[in-house]
Amino acid sequence: MATSSRSRLPDTPAWKALKEHQRELAAVRMSDLFAADPRRFESFSVETPEMLFDYSKNRVTAKTMRLLVELAMEAELPAAIEAMFSGERINWTEDRAVLHTALRNPAREGVRVEGREVLPGVHAVLEKMERFSDRVRSGEWRGQSGKPIRTVVNIGIGGSDLGPAMIVEALRGESGARAGADGGLDVRFVSNVDGGDLAAKLEGLDPAETLFIIASKTFTTLETMTNARSARAWLVAGLGGSDTAVAKHFVAVSTNHARVREFGIDPQNVFEFWDWVGGRYSAWSAIGLPIALAIGFASFKELLAGAWAMDRHFRETPASRNIPVLMALLGIWYNNFFDCDSYAVLPYLQALHRFPAYLQQADMESNGKSVDRDGRRVNYQTGPVVWGEPGTNGQHAFFQLLHQGSKLIPCDFIGVVNPPRVLGDHHEKLMANFFAQPEALMAGRSEVEVRTELEAAGVSRERAEMLAPHRTFDGNRPSNSLLLRALTPHSLGFLIAAYEHKIFTQGVIWRINSFDQWGVELGKVLAQKILEEELVLLRGEEADLNGHDGSTAGLIRFFAAHRRGD
Ligand code: F6P
Repeated sequence: MATSSRSRLPDTPAWKALKEHQRELAAVRMSDLFAADPRRFESFSVETPEMLFDYSKNRVTAKTMRLLVELAMEAELPAAIEAMFSGERINWTEDRAVLHTALRNPAREGVRVEGREVLPGVHAVLEKMERFSDRVRSGEWRGQSGKPIRTVVNIGIGGSDLGPAMIVEALRGESGARAGADGGLDVRFVSNVDGGDLAAKLEGLDPAETLFIIASKTFTTLETMTNARSARAWLVAGLGGSDTAVAKHFVAVSTNHARVREFGIDPQNVFEFWDWVGGRYSAWSAIGLPIALAIGFASFKELLAGAWAMDRHFRETPASRNIPVLMALLGIWYNNFFDCDSYAVLPYLQALHRFPAYLQQADMESNGKSVDRDGRRVNYQTGPVVWGEPGTNGQHAFFQLLHQGSKLIPCDFIGVVNPPRVLGDHHEKLMANFFAQPEALMAGRSEVEVRTELEAAGVSRERAEMLAPHRTFDGNRPSNSLLLRALTPHSLGFLIAAYEHKIFTQGVIWRINSFDQWGVELGKVLAQKILEEELVLLRGEEADLNGHDGSTAGLIRFFAAHRRGD
C-alpha cells in the first residue's frame, strides 16, 4: 500500500476547526438564527437566471461557511476544477481524463487529451446525432418494410439508462417534446435483465415501426447484451426472419467498435463516445440519443447549453457563491460533523420522479469509496446514501421519519415555479407543500405549544400531558431549497450539472477517486460463475458448489430444485 507523509484529513487545520465549531453550534437553533438576522435569507441564498438556491435553512452561520470554504481551499479545489476541465488524468486508477464538461462545450477547440483536440470529435458526433434524430423524427428514416419509426427502445443500464430515462421523463411535457403523443416518437427504456422488462416494453409494438438503441459504453454488460440479443431475435422473427432488418432497426452507442461489429450493427449506425466520459456522466454524449429522439435535437442542445452554463458558474464563481460548492460543503458538514448517513432528494414535480434514482448512481457510484488518493483507507465518512421520492407522495410515506425520527436527514427540496403542465390549482397546492415541509422541519413544534393547543381544544390536562411528547416536533432539521424558474431543457441541464459538480467537489475534499467503480466488479464476476453452475444443475447434473458459503450454495440448490422447466 502506498504511504504518504501528508496529514490525514481529520488532522488538517480546517477539519479540526470545523469539529470545534460544530460543538459551538450543536445546540443552536436555526429559528433563532433567522430571528437574529432579518437578512439571513438574502445572505444564504444564490440566484441565477435558472434558479434560486436557498440554503438558509441549514445549521450554519457565516463562520461555518467561512470554515467550510477554508476546507475546500485546503483541498486545493480551484486547481482540481482546472485539472478536470483541462483534461488531466484525474481518474488515476483507470488512467483517464474526466471530460463530460467537454461534451457541452460550444467551442470548437481548446480541450486536449494527450495533446489531441477532443472538441472536433464531440461536435462531429453531435452533428451525426442531429442528422439521425431529424431523419427519424420526420419519418424520413424508414424501417425494413418502408414504414416510419414510431417507437424507440433504448436498451442500456446504469449510466446508459438512468440519465437519459430521467431526462426524457422530465421533458416529455415540453412543447415539441412529446413522446408517444400527437404523432411524436414513443421512447421507452429497457434496463433490467429480468425478461419481464423487455417483454413489457415490447408489448403491442410493431417491429416494422420500432428502432432499438443499444447503449453500452463497454458493449459487454450482461444485462444490455442479453436484452439486445432478445430484441434482435424479436425483430428478426417479426420481420420475416432475415438479419438484414437489423441495419434499419438497430443503432449502437459505444466506445467498443469491435464488439458492436461482432453484434452485427452496421458501423454507419454507431455513435461513438470516448473513455474520458464516465458512464454516469454520459447523458450529454451520444448516450443522450434517446433524449434527442424524444425531445428533438434543438432541445437536446438546450440541455447541453444549460449544463454548460452551470460549468461556467462552477469554474468561475468564488466558492462562497458557487452553488455546487455550497451544496458539497453543506453535505460534508452533515455527513462528517453531524454523523448523518444519508440525504433525501425530494423533487416536487412528477416530471422529475426519476431524479432520485438517477442521482443514486451519480452520487453513490462516484463517492462510495473508502481508499484515498494516497492508497490509505479513509478514517472519516465519504459518500452518503442518497434516496428520495417526488413530493407530495413522499410526505405520505417516509416524511414521518424526517420529522420525528431519531435520525437527522438533510433534505434537498427541488421545486419549479412554472411547471410544464398546468391543471387547475394543482401546482399551487403542490408548491404550498414544497414551502411548508422545509419550514415545518426547521420550526418544529414545542411541547408547551402542543399542550396549550390541546387544552384550548378542550382536551383534558392528563390527556394533553400524555399526548404532548408524541405530538412534539424537535425541528431544527436542515434542508436546501432549489427552486427552478421553469422546467426546461436548459434549466434541467443546469440542475443535473450542479449535482455532478457537487459530487466532484466532495470527492476532491474526501481525497477519493469519484470516477472509477471497481466496487461493482466482484458481484459481476461471481454472477458469471454462478450462471454456469445454475445451468449445470438445471441440466440435472451435479455442480461443485463447494467454493460457495453454505447460504449461497443452499439458495442456488433451492432455485435449481424448484425451477420449472419452462
Ligand atoms: O455496473 C456499473 C457500470 O459499469 C456503470 O458504471 C455503467 O454506467 C453501467 O455499468 C453500464 O455500463 P455500460 O454502458 O458499459 O453497459
